[in-house]
Amino acid sequence: MSKVLVINASARQDRSFSRILAAIFVGKWKQKHPEDSVVHREVGQENIPHVSEAWIAGAFKPAHLRTEEDVAALSVSDTLISELKEADIIVLSTPMYNWSIPSALKAYIDQVLRVNETVLIEPGKPDPYTGLLKNKKAFLLLVRGNKGYEPGEYFEHMNFQTNYLKTVFRIMGIQDVEVVLLNGAAHGEEASSAALTAAQGNIEELINR
Ligand SMILES: Cc1cc2nc3c(=O)[nH]c(=O)nc-3n(C[C@H](O)[C@H](O)[C@H](O)COP(=O)(O)O)c2cc1C
Repeated sequence: MSKVLVINASARQDRSFSRILAAIFVGKWKQKHPEDSVVHREVGQENIPHVSEAWIAGAFKPAHLRTEEDVAALSVSDTLISELKEADIIVLSTPMYNWSIPSALKAYIDQVLRVNETVLIEPGKPDPYTGLLKNKKAFLLLVRGNKGYEPGEYFEHMNFQTNYLKTVFRIMGIQDVEVVLLNGAAHGEEASSAALTAAQGNIEELINR
């Protein structure tokens, strides 16, 4: 039995394409793996704290030297990291906001990408990063209002969403990352519903693979 962690990053609930994709994913996954458990982590509508001076002071010192203040500052991070560590499958659904990711998702990433917890950093090595999350697979469900962000397309140079998120997962040790795209969500009902149908097909294909 595997544990699936579903992270939703859209600021909206109503008419959210990324949440629809996540729900489709969960439905298809449960059909194929009824014994698996699913945990949801809300990011888009929660105020996940930004890292603070106290957070940084605590995170970069050995655990046994942490003060009560350090421990308190790291408590949200600890909770979010333990959720990630417990998951076998991570499903992240997110819109593109301003050619990147919602700031709420960036706050989440800053909480979980943490030295000695999800990444080991050895300065001076050609590749100083060793990811500490093992045996996990991630699915990125990425939604954009516009289109043309793929390699060779007109807005490729403005896509700070796909590679950024893949890098974050890979730095934490998750190499197995699949991407489902829904482009043109803001291009009217006909275009967006065709894009949704195509994305649904991609999800089914990935799950049945
Ligand atoms: C604040 C904001 C910024 C956005 N920036 C972009 C952008 O840079 N590029 C783009 O293609 N779409 C952009 N969009 C459109 C969203 O990606 C699109 O509406 C998407 O469907 C939102 O995800 P959701 O449907 O899950 O809420 C933006 C939307 C919002 C609200």
